[in-house]
Amino acid sequence: MTSDRWLLYGAYGYTGELIAREAVDRGLDPILAGRNREKVDRLAADLDCESRVFSLADPGLEGHLDDVNLVLNCAGPFVDTHEPLVAACLDSDTHYLDVTGEIEVFESIRENDDRARRADLTLLPGVGFDVVPSDCLAAHLVERLPEAESLAIGYQPAGGFSPGTLKTAIAGLGEDALVRRDGGLEPATVGQTTREIDFGDGPVPAMTVPLGDVSTAYHTTGVPNIECYLAVPPGATRWLRYQRYLDPILALGPVQTLLAKLVDRLIEGPDAETRAETTATLWGEVSNGDATRVSRLRTPNVYRTTKLAALEVVERVLAGDAPAGHQTPASAFGPELILSIEGVERIDEWHR
Ligand SMILES: NC(=O)c1ccc[n+]([C@@H]2O[C@H](COP(=O)([O-])OP(=O)(O)OC[C@H]3O[C@@H](n4cnc5c(N)ncnc54)[C@H](OP(=O)(O)O)[C@@H]3O)[C@@H](O)[C@H]2O)c1
Repeated sequence: MTSDRWLLYGAYGYTGELIAREAVDRGLDPILAGRNREKVDRLAADLDCESRVFSLADPGLEGHLDDVNLVLNCAGPFVDTHEPLVAACLDSDTHYLDVTGEIEVFESIRENDDRARRADLTLLPGVGFDVVPSDCLAAHLVERLPEAESLAIGYQPAGGFSPGTLKTAIAGLGEDALVRRDGGLEPATVGQTTREIDFGDGPVPAMTVPLGDVSTAYHTTGVPNIECYLAVPPGATRWLRYQRYLDPILALGPVQTLLAKLVDRLIEGPDAETRAETTATLWGEVSNGDATRVSRLRTPNVYRTTKLAALEVVERVLAGDAPAGHQTPASAFGPELILSIEGVERIDEWHR
């Protein structure tokens, strides 16, 4: 399949709709899809797009993809949606992209690498804010220090989160965090390690969190030890570490359902003004024991970056520029991919 027909699944969610609107503005002509007929039809009518309604539980899912070259999956939590869509893409000769940041989803999709290579198809999860900037930062740092033994990535986002991001985080509550140690994935506790990170305006407290880079940055760079940090308000690290005592309760299905309902009722996601005015900063450090290199990225707001990065990758894959098999953003397009996103700046620091 070599046409430029592509399908956006989860099109009427917060993130899907942002991407759909931008795609139409660029003349990229997506087919809008999802499981709720009323919501799909309303958006498709508003944007004058072709639409398709199907559930991921439909038998014969691949039949909905027979005439498309690429699927961008924006229906998360992706732990619930990636398996049927990846299988349907492989069965229908269709490239697969998504905007997941979930470690287990990256690892699961990677298991299809051989099959995708043989079929000359690209499987590229994580084309949003998770993990395009961080993956490109990791690849850039390893170009600066090729023999790096450890990598730390720090995140300082601003502007709040969408309902889906919070619901995906809720679905992971009560589970072990994961870190990359000596090339393997090991369980760890959220906030197990804390440190101060200078995101550009002086040191702030940060703590370890389970983000996708422990999977993707390893596959991009081969660095065997990887930790991800999130900047937190002063004093919060102590309280967040106590969360583990609540883990058995937070892992209960009814508790997660209640929290997700509260999110649906109370959270709308950042509005257009917030998305336009807020930024995010990423900090990365590689070390080989003797030498250290630090670089930072300043990006637009998380959801603006997601929209712009996802469409940049859609255009490149449709143009035939992506290698086959399971890819990360930087394994497919190199560390400079992030610099093609409007509003991104990269700064390098030199250490010994
Ligand atoms: N990588 C990144 O940086 C990044 C950025 C933004 C968002 N995300 C992730 O993207 C996902 C969506 O976020 P959002 O804010 O757009 O959430 P949202 O507004 O809640 O939208 C979620 C969308 O997914 C659909 N969906 C969920 N589960 C489904 C299932 N099992 N089968 C079919 N459709 C399903 C929903 O349809 P229904 O309404 O019918 O349930 C809805 O269209 C989240 O997992 C979020 O973490 C990642």
